[in-house]
Amino acid sequence: MIKKCLFPAAGYGTRFLPATKAIPKEMLPVVNKPLIQYGVEEAIEAGIYTMAVITGRGKRAIEDHFDISYELEHQIKGTSKEYLLTDIRELVNKCTFTYTRQKEMKGLGHAVLTGEPLIGNEPFAVVLADDLCEGENHGVLKQMIELYKKYRCSIVAVMEVEKENIHKYGVVEAKELEKDVFVVSNMVEKPRAEEAPSNLAVIGRYILTPDIFEILKNTKPGKNGEIQLTDALMTQAKTNMVIAYKFKGKRFDCGSVEGFVEATNYFYNKFLGK
Ligand code: UTP
Repeated sequence: MIKKCLFPAAGYGTRFLPATKAIPKEMLPVVNKPLIQYGVEEAIEAGIYTMAVITGRGKRAIEDHFDISYELEHQIKGTSKEYLLTDIRELVNKCTFTYTRQKEMKGLGHAVLTGEPLIGNEPFAVVLADDLCEGENHGVLKQMIELYKKYRCSIVAVMEVEKENIHKYGVVEAKELEKDVFVVSNMVEKPRAEEAPSNLAVIGRYILTPDIFEILKNTKPGKNGEIQLTDALMTQAKTNMVIAYKFKGKRFDCGSVEGFVEATNYFYNKFLGK
């Protein structure tokens, strides 16, 4: 039903400078796996095998990661370390990766629009790899696809955020439709605490219907002069239904140093089997 997943990965990652000067933020490892691989694994779990990645200058390491490294394969073959490549080999064999470059960083909305030729006229998933998610029972994307089957409209993943942090997020005004499912009537990008319409903040997982592309073409630059996906979703909410889904699981903001360290500690404990 949802066959493609878009990964906007063209941002500069300025919060991680100087680490992100020559390395894409999406390639920073949490324990022993780059952020974007966690996202791809989440998409696979949701039954998606075509990944559409929006890259930019200096992001070539992402393409190399999802390809065969003949030199490495040759070196490691038959040694006791070969098993370390098993998972990524399997992943690369299972999936098709398509890429396009966003030539100017004009915002998340613009990055999504840049992906139109890779997606076409079908509903698709979006993963912001710097939001590292671990679903309860199922991954967040899989949970959202189940919901898409029922409502057939765009869906944004939300989580409850304390007042003092709400200004970092897009925030929804929404009415509960069923447990953890809300119909969006308004969305505000990075509001001041006193202006936030709720405590439900949008995180980096979306299911989008393809009419979003036409809407994005007509969306004027908003906050920071960037084309905001939030603004386009607002337009979509006025004509169609847009749903906010309070997902079951954890989310780490790996775009910030604090969230990245938190994720590292969490996944390191899992790695140790604790
Ligand atoms: P962020 O707001 O986290 O920006 O973008 P950033 O550039 O990655 O990081 P900082 O804030 O400078 O540290 C959210 C997501 O949207 C993508 C980013 O790659 C990230 O996954 N994005 C953003 C684009 O692909 N293109 C853009 O023009 C802007």
